[in-house]
Amino acid sequence: MSVRIGDEAPNFTAETSIGTLNFHEYLGDSWGILFSHPADYTPVCTTELGRTAQLAHEFEKRNTKVLALSVDALHNHTGWINDINETQHTQVQFPIIADTDRTVATLYDMIHPNASATTTVRSLFIIGPDKKIKLTLTYPASTGRNFVEVLRVLDSLQLTAEHSVATPADWQQGQDVIVIPAIPTEEALVKFKKGVTIVKPYLRYTPQP
Ligand code: BEZ
Repeated sequence: MSVRIGDEAPNFTAETSIGTLNFHEYLGDSWGILFSHPADYTPVCTTELGRTAQLAHEFEKRNTKVLALSVDALHNHTGWINDINETQHTQVQFPIIADTDRTVATLYDMIHPNASATTTVRSLFIIGPDKKIKLTLTYPASTGRNFVEVLRVLDSLQLTAEHSVATPADWQQGQDVIVIPAIPTEEALVKFKKGVTIVKPYLRYTPQP
């Protein structure tokens, strides 16, 4: 059963590179990112985990805890983390789940048998402080993810969770945002003090709140 936007993020207890942890307890009141990679000691995965580690401060600024997963064993994670630190010039501080029995991979539908019967695809879930799934991404083994895009989505999710706005295509922090259709224009004109630009009755912009 796949995990979809709006679902509660399934909870689990797992062995990780920093010890045994309970997922919901680990997240606490933070946002969370749970992401899988196909295997330890593989090149694309090395760059992905390295990039995530390099961006640790950005995730921290966004009150977001990161948790990686593969179906490899803990002793593999330990040796591989040394390689990631060395080759990507960083320090991996976030936990990596050793999901050898595939409990978490199955809960989150991370094994796509027509891609690989034994390893996880590149799944990524963003989880809100309410423990609900806010975003799902699935990439094949051959394509590394763009973690700057993950930060951009987090910015959008956190902004739109707080204000009655949505973000347009390619939106970046500081750019105008869209007034959601549920807000009538008369109400929008009162609500958004920085002004509303009406391009069409259904396409209305306001400066980022
Ligand atoms: C990699 O991380 O480099 C990788 C893993 C599995 C298949 C292809 C590439």
